[in-house]
Amino acid sequence: MEPVFKRIVLKLSGEALAGDKGTGIDSETIGRIATEIKYVSELGVEVAIVVGGGNFWRGMSAKDMDRTTSDHMGMLGTVMNALALQDALEDMGVITRVQSAIDMKQIAEPYIRRKAVRHLEKGRVVIFAAGSGNPYFSTDTAAALRAAEIEAEVILLAKKGVDGVYDSDPKTNLNAKKFDSLKYIDILNLGLGIMDSTATSLCMDNSIPLIVFGIDKPNNIIDVVLGEKIGTHVKED
Ligand code: GTP
Repeated sequence: MEPVFKRIVLKLSGEALAGDKGTGIDSETIGRIATEIKYVSELGVEVAIVVGGGNFWRGMSAKDMDRTTSDHMGMLGTVMNALALQDALEDMGVITRVQSAIDMKQIAEPYIRRKAVRHLEKGRVVIFAAGSGNPYFSTDTAAALRAAEIEAEVILLAKKGVDGVYDSDPKTNLNAKKFDSLKYIDILNLGLGIMDSTATSLCMDNSIPLIVFGIDKPNNIIDVVLGEKIGTHVKED
């Protein structure tokens, strides 16, 4: 089977790397995800990854802390995840480049759009760390921003614990209905919590298609790139 995309942004939540442990990084889980990314990259798909940091720190949930400080800590969490992902991928022979939205030159390249695109053209997997570099913005928003900047065809939003977008929380409502497809405006109008409104609006305004799918099932990253109809497909109209 042939891949249906040429250039993708894969958004991995931090929790996706934690496996069943819930926090930190689970080596078996990150190894499994890296294997799927390697497969997709070797199919000739240009892969850029935006990684979250919730397995280390959630900026928004630290109620007693200054929000900006807390978000900065969250960004540092994403850098740890980016380095772990780079390590797992390079261990398998996949050439990667980590670019950070916050300058930390001893650790990672700075984010430079044209350089990121060049890396992708050369078949390297590019991992974007530190979100957008701004507090008050989620890593989902960073994924939307980077996808627009590098002209990715799609954002693949890999979620832990859920396999698509539902009309209510499937963990608490057994009758929750899963959407096969959806418009961005529906996410905003129905208040669906799959992505924050900033990220949703950015995708909507720039017509970036999104596929929300579960990361827990092995091979889902590969299947979605091969065009299998899994998860929920979100489009502008
Ligand atoms: P090309 O110019 O396309 O060949 O890309 P390249 O990434 O191979 O070349 P470059 O000389 O830019 O980088 C060589 C190595 O140094 C790569 O592993 C980069 O990720 C790394 N690197 C480049 N710039 C920086 C930086 O500012 N900080 C850190 N920590 N590493 C960097």
